[in-house]
Amino acid sequence: MRQTSNPESTQREHIPTDIFASADQACTGIADAICELITARKTAGKPAVLGLATGSTPVRLYRELIRRHREEGLSFANVISFNLDEYYGLTGEHPESYRRFMREQLFDWVDLRPENRNLPDGALPREDVLASCRAYEEAIREAGGIDIQILGIGRTGHIGFNEPGSSPESRTRIITLDSLTRRDAARDFLGEENVPRHAITMGVGTILDARKIFLLAWGEAKAEVIAQSVEGPQTDAIPASFLQKHPDCVFCIDEAAASHLTRVRHPWLVGTVEWSPEMIRKAVLWLSRKTKKPLLKLIEEDYSENGMADLLTEKGSAYELNIKMFNTAQHTITGWPGGKPDADDSHRPERANPFPKRSLLLSPEPLDDIYCMGGTLHRLVNQNNDVTVAYLTSGNLAVPDSEVRRVIELMLELGEERESVDDLKFARLLERQLREKGDFGDDPPEVRRLKGLIRRTESRSSARLLEIGSDRLRFLDLPFYEHGRYRTFQPDEKDTKRLIELLREIRPHQIFATGLGNDPLSVPALCFEILRNALAASQSEAWLKDCYIWLYRGPGMEWETHEIDMAVPLSPDEFENKIQGIYQHQTQRNQSPNLGKDDNGNTWSLASKINRATASSYDELGLAEYEAIEGFRRFDLNR
Ligand code: GLP
Repeated sequence: MRQTSNPESTQREHIPTDIFASADQACTGIADAICELITARKTAGKPAVLGLATGSTPVRLYRELIRRHREEGLSFANVISFNLDEYYGLTGEHPESYRRFMREQLFDWVDLRPENRNLPDGALPREDVLASCRAYEEAIREAGGIDIQILGIGRTGHIGFNEPGSSPESRTRIITLDSLTRRDAARDFLGEENVPRHAITMGVGTILDARKIFLLAWGEAKAEVIAQSVEGPQTDAIPASFLQKHPDCVFCIDEAAASHLTRVRHPWLVGTVEWSPEMIRKAVLWLSRKTKKPLLKLIEEDYSENGMADLLTEKGSAYELNIKMFNTAQHTITGWPGGKPDADDSHRPERANPFPKRSLLLSPEPLDDIYCMGGTLHRLVNQNNDVTVAYLTSGNLAVPDSEVRRVIELMLELGEERESVDDLKFARLLERQLREKGDFGDDPPEVRRLKGLIRRTESRSSARLLEIGSDRLRFLDLPFYEHGRYRTFQPDEKDTKRLIELLREIRPHQIFATGLGNDPLSVPALCFEILRNALAASQSEAWLKDCYIWLYRGPGMEWETHEIDMAVPLSPDEFENKIQGIYQHQTQRNQSPNLGKDDNGNTWSLASKINRATASSYDELGLAEYEAIEGFRRFDLNR
């Protein structure tokens, strides 16, 4: 559902912004606008000119357009399209080229004429690039200009590939990619070193010439840059902020991407709010951070000077509120994530009984488990809970070929030493397959399987450090992940069925899961959706009535203190042990931006920073000082 906003709450926003409950709902509205345009132009005997984008963000919109083409007869015969950008140095056959992306995600499925599809050419010799950029601009003009431009946004604030530093007058040109952008693309390219350094992009000025612009954004990773673009000053440090200049630009975003807008994050600063217990907690913890004072030292002036005077009028004095919030935060802390047997649990996050608990940790890929909650996992095991870790996908796509080569070499050496003809034959087959597919070809099933097995061995050795036996690990290898690449996955009932079976077998008292608020096409978000479906199908089962669901935040992120319902502190030794466990996932050290490397490119440093930062936040509230904390949020299925 689209949230209606009032002028008071959006007073800081310089771009009309619609917040939707889901990406799909947002896409329906945009698809409507595109249909209307195409139909109106058709009636007038004219072409409709669309500006198209790539990346994960528009994929759901394209799926909706394809559906309308198939089921509702929407025709693209009178559409001319211009894509925003293309990596420089890739041919259209490269699996990560935007040309190929557009074919796979849209063009191959609709009747948009090949001669009407325009994309910058990334394969041109350098000396021809300038002329082709000019020709691209000319072609847009000749087509009558862009009617509707679809945009995503990069974490640097780029639109198209207009990186920070791009001026609002810039036109189609070749640019150098920002290091953060290249790191964000590293996963698709199986390593940052494979990501092109340059790209050709429409300029900000070219984009601003479009008659109507929709910018789409999903997931919490985009929340900060969305708030900066919508509420911040117009600046070339955030090129998307120049969209404030446009007379007809709308941001269509989901709740997670909206979470840093003032009306969502600090609504008391832009109008009256309803002071629910959650809102009070959010506001008071924020006030403590803002004033850099521990909770118990906040005074009336702090409240009234920061938009919270009415809270005092409604809910009592600063003294009372401070103590209440202090106690609430204090009660989230527990060293017993599975509940403490025989203890008074009236102020504990988890119940004392039953004990021990059957605890099920769902890890979208190997490594998410230890990275996000390794310390908690260790405690659950040490405190004799009946722990199962289920890896939902094999994670095989994230293993670089170089790692497979090492294993094949080992297989060859062993095979020769043991003179085992069969082993040697198989190792040579793998060697040949790897060579033949090239750097970016799709992995043949045998290679993919081997990559999945490599990740299993890493999971086992990291689990050993947490004293979890191999028999407690389950590798579900959900089928959706085993075909295609990132962005093409489409889970179905086969995936849900596999998870339902596991739930029925274990009948957990507590489930630890992640993926809420992520980009809906990401593996954690897809896994979370599968969990939701599996739980919905298990509604009538007795175990579910007595099951707590705890959400851990994805790798590289942590809940904010006001969101944490259970905080598990780790001692320096426990924390070090967890970090050693993470190191066992050697194939991942250069992978995805949130795992191996931090924003400065330092390997693994993020892992230790996050849990330490949560501990500092608790300390700053005036609570005890710990080495590190892992945070969890209780998830209410019926919410
Ligand atoms: C790429 C594209 C942009 C896109 C952005 C966000 O760099 N050039 O057009 O908006 O990344 O990507 P995603 O939608 O995958 O988050």
